[in-house]
Amino acid sequence: MTGPVPLHAMRLVFLGPPGAGKGTQAQILAARFGARQIATGDILRRNVADGTELGKKAKAFMDAGSLVADDVIVAMMERELGVGAPFILDGFPRTVAQAEALDGMLARLALPLGAALQFDADRDVLIERLAGRWTNPRTGRTYHTLFNPPRVAGIDDEDGGPLVQRPDDSRDVVSERLATYDAKTKPLVDYYAHAGLLQRIAGLQPIEAVTADVLRALGADGSGGLVA
Ligand code: AP5
Repeated sequence: MTGPVPLHAMRLVFLGPPGAGKGTQAQILAARFGARQIATGDILRRNVADGTELGKKAKAFMDAGSLVADDVIVAMMERELGVGAPFILDGFPRTVAQAEALDGMLARLALPLGAALQFDADRDVLIERLAGRWTNPRTGRTYHTLFNPPRVAGIDDEDGGPLVQRPDDSRDVVSERLATYDAKTKPLVDYYAHAGLLQRIAGLQPIEAVTADVLRALGADGSGGLVA
């Protein structure tokens, strides 16, 4: 069990299956505490849209619901992680090899992790959430037709940009993503439990209740945990 996480040490890893709510909670927390949300999926999708070399390497894997190669992802994260500001890693690491690489990067930067939060949710709920998800491709902000609808259908409340459905949220690709998660990413729960950094969050609750649990887990619910 970790103790309260001071704000300047709010360096968090968010773990969990596709649709568990990692991105939703990372956005809420990042906005609330001025932390940087580093979402590997969003970075990769922007690179695919821009047709960069990284995007070309990643596209086929993403379309199939499998993982982009560890060396490609680790090189990308080496570029992202130089800054010492509080950050939330949303979608990285996703394999034990990536977690070990992250440990090495953070040791070199003298920036230890504060906690790893695992968001748990049942498969049926994950499929329903991904089927109803709408995303702003520019910012990565997400909505849900039933659980978190935008004020105007298809339009982002914040920047007025169009919302789209992700191609990898189709039922077939979601099944592959869930299988990939079970095989490659789930072992990280034990990895971070052994490191004494794991906190489990019940992701099946409404969004606000999940946020309240996250804040409690970080000691940031008014009990004096997060301090500047
Ligand atoms: P990525 O974009 O990271 O996808 P993911 O991990 O599959 O996660 P999602 O974004 O689908 O789910 P989420 O948990 O963030 O859920 P969200 O908050 O949006 O990765 C995509 C691909 O990129 C991968 O398949 C892989 O190919 C590649 N990739 C990325 N990182 C990689 C890495 N490190 N290594 C190798 N490859 C990598 O919520 C989902 C929906 O539910 C939303 O509509 C939301 O509004 C709604 N919702 C959220 N919380 C609740 C709630 N509590 N109650 C009701 N509805 C809710």
